[in-house]
Amino acid sequence: MAQQVRGVIAPGRGEPVRIETIIVPDPGPGEAVVKVQACGVCHTDLHYKQGGINDDFPFLLGHEAAGIVESVGAGVTEVAPGDFVVLNWRAVCGQCRACTRGRPWYCFNTHNAKQKMTLEDGTELSPALGIGAFADKTLVAAGQCTKVDPAAKPEVAGLLGCGVMAGLGAAINTGNAQRGDSVAVIGCGGVGAAAVLGARLAGAAKIIAIDLDERKLATAQNLGATHTVHAKDTDVVKAVQELTGGFGADLVIDAVGLPATYEQAFYARDLAGTVVLVGVPTPEMKIELPLIDVFGRGGSLKSSWYGDCLPSRDFPMLIDLYLQGRLDLDAFVTETIDLDGIEAAFDKMHHGDVLRSVVIL
Ligand SMILES: NC(=O)c1ccc[n+]([C@@H]2O[C@H](COP(=O)([O-])OP(=O)(O)OC[C@H]3O[C@@H](n4cnc5c(N)ncnc54)[C@H](O)[C@@H]3O)[C@@H](O)[C@H]2O)c1
Ligand SMILES: [Zn+2]
Ligand SMILES: [Zn+2]
Repeated sequence: MAQQVRGVIAPGRGEPVRIETIIVPDPGPGEAVVKVQACGVCHTDLHYKQGGINDDFPFLLGHEAAGIVESVGAGVTEVAPGDFVVLNWRAVCGQCRACTRGRPWYCFNTHNAKQKMTLEDGTELSPALGIGAFADKTLVAAGQCTKVDPAAKPEVAGLLGCGVMAGLGAAINTGNAQRGDSVAVIGCGGVGAAAVLGARLAGAAKIIAIDLDERKLATAQNLGATHTVHAKDTDVVKAVQELTGGFGADLVIDAVGLPATYEQAFYARDLAGTVVLVGVPTPEMKIELPLIDVFGRGGSLKSSWYGDCLPSRDFPMLIDLYLQGRLDLDAFVTETIDLDGIEAAFDKMHHGDVLRSVVIL
């Protein structure tokens, strides 16, 4: 029997979000219904609301979530009712050219639930990143559910579902930060702060946090940054070079995603160093660099989708490290809120007041 639950939808471009009754169908083959326990408010939800992703309104927002599997459809073997899971937005297919050559984190054919959740009048909803977890329950592809140790609090576990995984993975997976490396992180919001944490986990010897906001620099320092650079009125490239013996950092992570920050990242790395772009640019942004510098500086210029994570490999491992006290994920939960606090949470995000507001259901 389809169920009626509360959900937060973005009805149209720029319109305020509202709580509506949504209809969640029973899971079909390969699908699961998850009782959502916690869901973080991510910048991408705001992008959806503002029409910055696409025009498929109404959206069912929320995609950084943890909860309990309530029911599964035919043929589902990876999870069972009662499992504590983190939802991921890249359920790998196992069959595409990336998967079959052993690089499933690049899967080009990730999937979502086939059935649609709807409003009471039958209007089909577009779930944010194929998840839609600002709701009491949501319907997803079973492969979007990753089992983790239920000893972790849902508001912390859910963070791995998007921004925190993106940042951690930008450092440890895409950037391949190593013991002894110098790592600079431009932009220390939820994603950048997680990159700082990832660099520390990898054993980086020098971790330089760069932001325009003192509060973000203070948090980054608590998470393991060894140096901070206030980007306003500072030459960021020079500052990073000065902190690295005049050379630049081995790895620079751009967690903002502007042409100006990318250029800083490009020049703030050492010769043969690595740049990782994890901040998401908008379609009209362009970058111009002397091609001779691209050649002459060598190294690698990479982008990081979801931290190049493989949820089945990375989520349980990171939760274990958290439970052992080796990964401070608690620091990311600035506040817990109710479903009706999401509009206010967008405001706080916009003003830089929070790393994460997390909705508890
Ligand atoms: N690649 C992925 O898979 C992925 C996943 C999630 C989020 N993201 C993206 O990562 C980016 C960051 O997300 P977030 O949640 O951390 O956002 P956020 O708003 O919490 O943080 C952005 C930070 O950048 C700082 N900043 C802005 N301009 C700056 C500049 N010129 N120099 C230095 N610092 C600057 C801000 O002060 C803020 O602290 C966004 O673009 C988001 O869409 C990417
Ligand atoms: Zn695939
Ligand atoms: Zn997100």
